[in-house]
Amino acid sequence: MKITITGIKADIGSIGGHICPSKALLDEVRQIVQQAQKKGDIIDFRISHTGDDIAILATHTLGVDSEKIHRLAHEAFLAGTEVAKSQGLYGAGQDLLVDAFSGNIKGMGPAVAEMEIEERPSEAFLFFAADKTDPGAYSFFLYKAFASSCPGTFLGPSLFQGFKFTIMDVSYTEGDKVVELNSPEDLYDIQALLRDEGRFVVESIHSRTTQEIVVAVSTTRLHNIAGKYVGKDDPIMVVRTQKDFPATGEVLQPFAICPYVAGFMRGSHVGPLTPVPQNSTISYFDGPPIVSCAAYSVKEGKFTGPADTFADGAEFWQHIRRKAAQKAEWLREQEFFGVAMLPESELEYGGIVEKLEELEKKFKIRS
Ligand code: F6R
Ligand code: MG
Ligand code: MG
Repeated sequence: MKITITGIKADIGSIGGHICPSKALLDEVRQIVQQAQKKGDIIDFRISHTGDDIAILATHTLGVDSEKIHRLAHEAFLAGTEVAKSQGLYGAGQDLLVDAFSGNIKGMGPAVAEMEIEERPSEAFLFFAADKTDPGAYSFFLYKAFASSCPGTFLGPSLFQGFKFTIMDVSYTEGDKVVELNSPEDLYDIQALLRDEGRFVVESIHSRTTQEIVVAVSTTRLHNIAGKYVGKDDPIMVVRTQKDFPATGEVLQPFAICPYVAGFMRGSHVGPLTPVPQNSTISYFDGPPIVSCAAYSVKEGKFTGPADTFADGAEFWQHIRRKAAQKAEWLREQEFFGVAMLPESELEYGGIVEKLEELEKKFKIRS
């Protein structure tokens, strides 16, 4: 059976700053999506939050970029925004940058990751949602899991041919500017692009054995839509796993690295991307950057799950979170200095530009 898995997420208001949405807000979004399920527009859905972002995950048969599904998400976020306003939540409607819906929610603010698939007999996939970071943050993990640190690429014959990476230059705003590169032979070219987290973003990955889509990442840059800082892009990602694709554990393994990524406080600092359970709140320095991962099985579009991968009983990820906290403290010790903050081009508040202009006038050139 052909189904579409659609993830759409937005920050439409949160409690006490940028911490988490309210229960009433989540309930409102859930209620609207539930009505669509009753009407038969969608097969199944889940509502979750990661930090201040609400994600709608749904299955349907309408394909990617479906006007009906995108309109549904837009209406759910608009209704949620009204609840957020009525409760005085912070940043109500923050990610809804464009008022009039014109057929596709992409480019309006919310992040979208979706794929149409021929459902396998045992379809397994992971739904990632991150807060206080950029879409480029996922690139490192995808590089590791699909190209450089995946035992399946030498142990699993159906992975031997490697994967095709579609990489987008998100600094180009006239349209989608993409390049297709293959692992393993283009590994160095892939690295050359992905090192620039703010500009080159893995948009999708396909199997070179079966040609199937395996990964879809949201590539929204709110900054490009609004022309100024209006919040971080807080990306989502769908990753199919097992059999002809990397195993769930191979995809999760690199998240234990907790690499430093863009996005901490005011979207202008660097912090370790910390794996957390779903529905976690934000804590330290408006961060740290966090990522959650929900594992699902799906049959004829119906979900079983989620299994919350970073909320394990073995306490492995708790151990990793302590490492991430340590990394956060280490970098925070140097406050504004050097690599602790993003380069000027990526600082999310315009204030620094004004400040530097004022200071420029005070400089004197010695004779
Ligand atoms: C929000 C974020 C926060 C805010 C900060 C200031 O995603 O990262 O660090 O940037 O709380 O928010 P404003 O400028 O709205 O007071
Ligand atoms: Mg926010
Ligand atoms: Mg957010």
